[in-house]
Amino acid sequence: MSHTIKLTDTGETFCCRDDQHLLQGMQTFQIGKPMLDAITVGCRGGGCGVCRIRVVEGEYELKKMSRKHVSAEEQAEGIVLACRVFPRCDLLVEVLPVAKPA
Ligand code: FES
Repeated sequence: MSHTIKLTDTGETFCCRDDQHLLQGMQTFQIGKPMLDAITVGCRGGGCGVCRIRVVEGEYELKKMSRKHVSAEEQAEGIVLACRVFPRCDLLVEVLPVAKPA
């Protein structure tokens, strides 16, 4: 089943199946289309932290995330790694700035 993912800052949307994480869905959707001004893509495995987003609305399944990139407090506010999120309905998502190395 496919869900619509909407980005709060640009209003852009893409489709993502419930067996794809959000980065997979975004990249599949973009094939043959203009690039979205969207989520930064890195390792796609939860290791680099560049794909941080905040889910504003909607249900999702979350795979294990490193506390190095998302604290428990941030997770409680809906902050997650897009490459660890599988949508369970349409989502409204805020793209967060990529953290600069300290
Ligand atoms: S792309 Fe590296 S953590 Fe998501």
